[in-house]
Formats: sequence, structure tokens, C-alpha cells
Amino acid sequence: MPLPKSDYLSDTWKDGLFTNKVVFCTGGAGTICSAQVRALVHLGADAFIVGRNVEKTEKVAKDIATVRPGARVIGLGAVDVRSFDSLNNAVVRCVKELGAIDYVIAGAAGNFLASINQLSVNAFKSVMEIDVLGSYNTLKATIPHLVESAAKHRVDSDTLKPSPAGTGGRIIFVSATLHYTGTPFQGHVAVAKAGIDALSNTVALEFGPLGVTSNVIAPGPIASTEGLDRLLPTEQKEKVIKSQPLGRLGSVRDIADATVYLFADTGSYVSGQILVVDGASWRISSSAGSANYPDFLISGDTFQSVKGKKAKL
Ligand code: COA
Repeated sequence: MPLPKSDYLSDTWKDGLFTNKVVFCTGGAGTICSAQVRALVHLGADAFIVGRNVEKTEKVAKDIATVRPGARVIGLGAVDVRSFDSLNNAVVRCVKELGAIDYVIAGAAGNFLASINQLSVNAFKSVMEIDVLGSYNTLKATIPHLVESAAKHRVDSDTLKPSPAGTGGRIIFVSATLHYTGTPFQGHVAVAKAGIDALSNTVALEFGPLGVTSNVIAPGPIASTEGLDRLLPTEQKEKVIKSQPLGRLGSVRDIADATVYLFADTGSYVSGQILVVDGASWRISSSAGSANYPDFLISGDTFQSVKGKKAKL
């Protein structure tokens, strides 16, 4: 269902900011990434989103396309970021159908609560492969196109004037904040997100000379996302909200606005950064996450969700 603009984009940005630009996004049917893409499409971009679930990815793409008459938004399902070939085929199709890739959002991720005792080797490997290898595959498949776009959209190094053709050659990795302190039952995700942060920093250094910027957005607890709904039991929600420094959860609009900032001219000299969008949440060390720490560990109970459900394709 089409969303009101106020749900995914603030009024700060001018329409047409991303006209003739193309964004490629993994995990694009998810709540956060779809809001990021929706905001960019609203502001003029065309988009190519990929995901594992065919029906969901196609449906979300159609929905995003409603935000702007003439918007081209392609949703391609059955793409697993763990497979370079699968991802690369999607990239080839994106360039063939939409003409270029100016921006990339590496957003595909896997997450569930499990202590190390409950986490099988394969479960750990799955999250590492989806998050870290998936981000690397996304980078490898798209970087030639980002380099090409960056060359066309460089800020003039003498006058410091932006290119009249706008910006291009930018990548955002979606990470998290839970590895800044330490979060029980999220060891697998913490390790993976730390790897993603390190990858982004290296991209900034190695591709900066070619005009590409690379940054991380680290969302805090964002309301109405599948991640938060799954990881935070309803009965604990009120307590968590109360404990937030800004007295509220984040919104997907907060993340979308940060994305526009990094991709627009406002972000031209911002690279190798981690933009934490969490209302200072991580600085309050609640450490226990959503479980009753440490009683839960001592009890020997298992999380209800620990018997891993095979993700439906
Ligand atoms: N707790 C503990 N282990 C779990 C688990 C859970 N909740 N969910 C999956 N696993 C384990 C599986 O048991 C399996 O390990 P095993 O072979 O030793 O039994 C391993 O993880 C791989 O599981 P599989 O079902 O094959 O999933 P996958 O590799 O295709 O995908 C996820 C893994 C994380 C993506 C999947 O669990 C999932 O769909 N999660 C929900 C969606 C999601 O995470 N979205 C991100 C939003 S933040």
C-alpha cells in the first residue's frame, strides 16, 4: 500500500535531487532498506532491489514505484547475496535495464537471538555469509559501475563545485551498533557487523582516489521493523522505549534521511564514516538485549525461536 511521504522522507530535501540516477539495493524488500530506496525514488532515482523472497521483492518494488509517476523500480527475487553469480547476474540486469548504477545500498542481513551455546557452527556461518560475504559480493559486483559513475560526477578539485550532473559513485553498508559494547545472544551478528564496518573503511581508502565514497549507516532500534519485532518481545517494548535517550524509537524515515544526506551533495566529503542513527541509544548500556540477562543463561532455557526455521524462498 502506498505510504504517506512523511513516513519515509522529511520535507528537507528537494524533489528531483536524484533524477537520472540509479540505486541498487540488496535486502531491498526489508522495512529499513525499502524506506531508503523509497526516499531516493521519491527524489527522482530509479531503483533495482534484490532479495531472496520472489513474491515479496516484486511486490515491494511495485509499491515503491507508486511514489513518483514514471519511476522505474525493478524487484528481482531468488537472489542470494551469498552467491556471487546470483548477485552479479542481478547487477548485469540492472545496468542493462536501467542504464547504470550510481548508488549502492548493501542491506541484506540475517539475524536471530541465540547464545553461543545454542548457536550451531552452521548458524554462525550463515549469518557471516549473508552479512560479510554478501556485502563483499555486493561490493565486487557493483564497484566497476560505482567507479564509472564517480568519474562522471566528481566535485571539481580546484573550484570545489559539485558536478552539474549531480552525485554518483557512492555505497552505504547497513550495519548495527551492538558490537560497540557487546550484546549477549548477538555474537554472530556483532562479529558480522564489525566485519562490514571494516570493509567499508577499506573501500573508502582504496576507491576514494577514484571518487567513490563508502560509509556505514548504523541504525539503532527502529520502530515497526521485522528485526525489532522479532528481537524485542512486546512486553519489553515500553521499557525499552522509556530507556531511550530521546524517549522514542527511531523511524525508518530517520534512516532514509541519513541515506539521502550521504548520497546527495551534502555527503560529498563524507567517506569512511559510520553514521550512527540511534538517538544515542547505544551509549546507554542496557547490555541484556531483549532477554533476561544473566538469569536466562543460568536457567539453561532456550529461545523460542532457536529451532531455526528454514527461510522461505
Ligand atoms: N536460532 C538458532 N539457530 C538458527 C535460527 C535461530 N532462530 N535460525 C536459523 N538458525 C540456524 C539453523 O538451524 C541452521 O543451522 P543448522 O544447520 O546447524 O541447523 C542455520 O542457522 C542456517 O539456517 P537456514 O534455515 O538454512 O537459514 P539460511 O542460512 O537460509 O538463513 C537466516 C539464515 C538468518 C536468514 C534465517 O534464519 C532467517 O530467515 N531469519 C529471519 C530473517 C532475517 O534474519 N532478516 C534480517 C532482518 S534484521
